[in-house]
Amino acid sequence: MKRIKIATALILAAALIFLVYAGCAKRFDGESEIVPDFVFRYAENQAADYPTTLGANKFAELVAERTSGRIKIVVFHSAELGSEVECIEQLRFGGIDFARLSLSQLAEVSQSINVLHLPYLYRDEAHMWRVLDGEIGDSFLGALEEQNIIGLSWYNAGARCFYTTVPIRKVEDLQGLTIRVQESAMMADMVRLLGASAAPIVYSEVYSALQTGRIDGAENNWPSYESMSHYEVARYFYLDQHTRVPEMQVISRAAMEKLSEEDMEIIRECAKESALFEREEWARREKLSEQICIEKGVEVVVPGPEDVKLMQELCQPLYEKYAADSMSIVDRIIQLGQDEIPESAS
Ligand code: GCU
Repeated sequence: MKRIKIATALILAAALIFLVYAGCAKRFDGESEIVPDFVFRYAENQAADYPTTLGANKFAELVAERTSGRIKIVVFHSAELGSEVECIEQLRFGGIDFARLSLSQLAEVSQSINVLHLPYLYRDEAHMWRVLDGEIGDSFLGALEEQNIIGLSWYNAGARCFYTTVPIRKVEDLQGLTIRVQESAMMADMVRLLGASAAPIVYSEVYSALQTGRIDGAENNWPSYESMSHYEVARYFYLDQHTRVPEMQVISRAAMEKLSEEDMEIIRECAKESALFEREEWARREKLSEQICIEKGVEVVVPGPEDVKLMQELCQPLYEKYAADSMSIVDRIIQLGQDEIPESAS
């Protein structure tokens, strides 16, 4: 009898401790911070101070604010959660909840996306936003649903240019060089059409590949060239702006399915706001990176109109190979560029 009483007392005490703890745990996290209902992981392969990482932090901040701390997003930058290709795999199976990814990488799992980063597709940045912030961009946010990845917003990644360890002063100088490309079939074909050999190498290894002479050059935007210190080993920058590869902020289906409709609405709204913030940060950093590289003695060559024309012609087969089924979209995109030209200039 006495034993039963002790056992009952112990059970009651344990239940009490559990109830008190559960009550506290819901409210307190050390310093009276609310313990979130969800903690999500966000993958970013750029450095802590890079515009896209700042955009991710902004996103996490807005979501925490608007859900009163119920949803917490932890941003892992500098590819801590893996390369973009690895992150895409993890997103598909719900191992990672959010990410910001280069479109050329996403196009590897959903070919239709290639149409949005064809070389010389956009007249300029304003033209690209007109496309991405309109109906075409909206419809492509859903292009990866079969892969269990859902697009939320569009981030800026500027225009990509070639940079090399040996001078390039005209398109023909690319002949015979080995150029690093993203892990993207279309980017590899582009480099081959321009007369060079393509070496797909993960972003984090480009510096050492340049340094050891495994490659003669790479291509990227000003902030990446500067942030990854590629300018230290590839001193020649050919300002050809051959392509704009926008970036998508995404959520995995697994994460999305945990959320209520209302929370998902908040996520979408915060993603869009964070993208506007990222675009401002981008504009600032793009100028700063260019300035830093020039101060460090990088030689910048601006191709003449004839060179640009030649590059455009050489890249033309990519339109047939990668956008044969999307020619009507290409036409609509080109049309949106035309619409922008002020009457006096046309
Ligand atoms: C850009 C982009 C990265 C990408 C990189 C690359 O810097 O922002 O997400 O990994 O290009 O060339 O691989």
